[in-house]
Amino acid sequence: MVWLILSLVAGILLLLILVSKRTRSEKEPPLDNGVIPWLGHALEFGMDAAKFLTRMKVKHGDIFTVRVAGRYVTVLLDPCSYNAVLEDSVSLDFTCYAQILMDRIFSLQLPCYNPVVEKKMMTQHFNGKSLSLLNNLMLRHLQSLLLQSQRACHNQTDWNTDRLFNFCYSLLFRAGYLTLFGGEQNNNRTDPTDVYEEYRKFDQLLTKMARSTLKPEEKRTALSVRGRLWELLAPAGLGEDSGSSPWLRNYRHLLQEEGVDEETQRRALLLQLWSTQTPENIAMRAVRREFSCFSEQDSAQLPLVDRQHPTPVFDSALEETLRLKAAPFITREVVQAKTLHMAGGRDYQLRRGDRLCLFPFISPQMDPEIHQEPQKFKYNRFLNPDGSEKKDFFKGGRRLQCYTMPWGAGTNSCVGKHFAISSIRQFVYLVLTHLDLELCDPEAQMPKVNASRYGFGVLQPEGDLDIRLKPRHSH
Ligand code: HEM
Ligand SMILES: *[C@@H]1O[C@H](CO)[C@@H](O)[C@H](O)[C@H]1NC(C)=O
Ligand SMILES: *[C@@H]1O[C@H](CO)[C@@H](O)[C@H](O)[C@H]1NC(C)=O
Ligand SMILES: *[C@@H]1O[C@H](CO)[C@@H](O)[C@H](O)[C@H]1NC(C)=O
Repeated sequence: MVWLILSLVAGILLLLILVSKRTRSEKEPPLDNGVIPWLGHALEFGMDAAKFLTRMKVKHGDIFTVRVAGRYVTVLLDPCSYNAVLEDSVSLDFTCYAQILMDRIFSLQLPCYNPVVEKKMMTQHFNGKSLSLLNNLMLRHLQSLLLQSQRACHNQTDWNTDRLFNFCYSLLFRAGYLTLFGGEQNNNRTDPTDVYEEYRKFDQLLTKMARSTLKPEEKRTALSVRGRLWELLAPAGLGEDSGSSPWLRNYRHLLQEEGVDEETQRRALLLQLWSTQTPENIAMRAVRREFSCFSEQDSAQLPLVDRQHPTPVFDSALEETLRLKAAPFITREVVQAKTLHMAGGRDYQLRRGDRLCLFPFISPQMDPEIHQEPQKFKYNRFLNPDGSEKKDFFKGGRRLQCYTMPWGAGTNSCVGKHFAISSIRQFVYLVLTHLDLELCDPEAQMPKVNASRYGFGVLQPEGDLDIRLKPRHSH
């Protein structure tokens, strides 16, 4: 017993010495160590990053360094200074942190990971002619899944019930999976619904995996779900007739050429499934809001699916949805000391080994100086009175280049942007034209945002809303 206490005390002392707080030099951003040794602000950060960082911004201003689980993270919240970060890929590294997450979430270490080659391939497959092919395929899958679900309801004139978020997520996930991974013919007749259900469980645990804060029983679940997903994805991208997209076949081919073993290939496929399955979460808002702004016109007449036809109202509504709900961290590792020039004229020293983090959600997206009443959804926020796209937004008298940043910006901005937008557009259009959809309880409150997901892409609701839907026969 005495030994135990003694060794505990010694351990704690050692820890305290090891983690003795660092001090700030004049030229560095304000430093906030928090009160808990080593952990620093980790708990508050993980619980609700938006709230925590807003509090720090009030305390320290637009740039500060916080201690988080042993790491020093410098947070920059001045949108006018983001470019200085996004354009420097020499001192600030994008792939390093991505690789840490790859290992934590997907247990994936690629022997000769070459992000440049991967990105080039992806850029090629998600643009131009390839993009049109993907868009057409996506539309076909969305249509047939909708038809399928309608046929499944035995009484076509009766209402069926579902939950709004689940309905959107499920439909977009399965259509995306079939489009990119080839689904049925390929994956040993794996029903996309099975993949969807496993994936939802995985998605629930993802943020905790990224932060390494899984409880033991959650860890068991996470590992077994991940294992099942690896199995389900195993055949994807193999062979010409696999039904997978050319991109996935190319990707798998690349892995094989690099000598990546079978097991690691499966893990890489799950990573790709995740990286291509981000749009679903927004749809819920887009759909709901869309009703209010399209109902004035006949929604059936809007050729949203035709990309040639401009859809400024839809574009603005989507932009607004993303402004409110896209909340990724943009993270870089400081791989060599750097002087950061802020737009306001001040210079700050960044230390090598620290992490740098932008959080565009707080500013520009929810910044009341840039967007009046930022909490409110205004579908026409990005429209001029004459119906054209509005691009003039200001902060401190300065016209902003980035007034909303759901796709990131600079060299590492989203490669799948056009595919994601097009998929959401098709989804909204098809649902509006094929289904009558209403809330079971018209008075139902919008569910709160799940605050533990700030920083991990698009936000999700806590809970869900019951809806009624039936095929639409009016036209
Ligand atoms: C609504 C849906 C989506 C949102 C909000 C979104 C957002 C983002 C953001 C913010 C980044 C930048 C990360 C950074 O700079 O640190 C990013 C990067 C990326 N996104 Fe997306 N994304 C979406 C959908 C997609 C889809 C459908 C694909 C693939 C088809 C995709 C592929 C990628 C890739 C490959 C990168 C990394 C780019 C690089 O390595 O430079 N995204 N995305
Ligand atoms: C479908 O439901 C409606 C209303 O409940 C009922 O009148 C109708 O007979 C049902 N039709 C079939 C084919 O079951
Ligand atoms: C397909 O599934 C069957 C039974 O579920 C299994 O025996 C077979 O090996 C699988 N084939 C492939 C290519 O995974
Ligand atoms: C919020 O998200 C976390 C992480 O994905 C998840 O574990 C938790 O169950 C979610 N909470 C609710 C109420 O949905």
